[in-house]
Amino acid sequence: MSTTFTLDTSTSRAHPLPEPVRRLTVPAIQARKADGVTAEPVVMLTAYTARMAQLLDPHCDMLLVGDSLGQVIYGLDTTVRVTLDMMIAHGAAVVRGSYRSVVVIDLPFGTYEASAEQAFATAALVLQETGAAAVKMEGGAVLAPTVEFLVKRGIPVVGHVGLTPQAVNALGGYGARGRSAAEAEKIAADARAIAAAGAFALVIEGVVEPLARAITADVGCPTIGIGASPACDGQVLVVDDMLGMFERVPRFVRRFDELAPRISAAAASYAAAVRDRSFPADAELYRPAKKG
Ligand code: KIV
Repeated sequence: MSTTFTLDTSTSRAHPLPEPVRRLTVPAIQARKADGVTAEPVVMLTAYTARMAQLLDPHCDMLLVGDSLGQVIYGLDTTVRVTLDMMIAHGAAVVRGSYRSVVVIDLPFGTYEASAEQAFATAALVLQETGAAAVKMEGGAVLAPTVEFLVKRGIPVVGHVGLTPQAVNALGGYGARGRSAAEAEKIAADARAIAAAGAFALVIEGVVEPLARAITADVGCPTIGIGASPACDGQVLVVDDMLGMFERVPRFVRRFDELAPRISAAAASYAAAVRDRSFPADAELYRPAKKG
């Protein structure tokens, strides 16, 4: 007697059918700010996986594959050890999982700072391998010629000024920036230089409100704040912080859910069900099919 098992293991995880939607474009994001006014704030969240991108995409204008994935996904203590391979793998997953948002990928530390040519080679590879629309680079006026080099060669760039986590070893920590007049003036000059070089949007991280307000009034492209007050043209958060996946988050983060305790509770229920043999319960599913 031969036995045929008919266990159906197919899933729709990889390719749920999307609604036919058109992806937003870099010029559309840039055009949100006209004559210094952004009528519709720019909504950005980080994403690192295809499934999370699927869930966030309908609600966002931009998805950032941030190098914060070093801490969030890989458990590294800083972003300094994030590699290009990590960014490309996660960037491609986020592009596959999104249909509407402009996907922006962080260039990791050490892959773009040496020269405009190095930055171009890295950014071109990132866009080719992932299908993303743009790259983000941390840094101020010193990086402006690099931004201009890339933009003039068809690579859209998002700037990132204020607290720049890749420079943690030089900054000595993650404290707010721009508290002294001199530091505030330097950050404002950095922002102006990066915007003038052609960045289509500018992340401002960890600065006091008057500085974020001044930069936002000063630059032609939309500013996207993180820990930089409501004075910016849009906001970005690390998605795992926003979802309440970590016990400790920066003070500026608002948790829009508390997923960590819910996931722990689900894992505990599953473990209990396996241990008391109440899962799996559906014996019918595992019955050998009758032949003929
Ligand atoms: O890496 C990242 O997630 C970022 C955001 C915090 C802006 O750069």
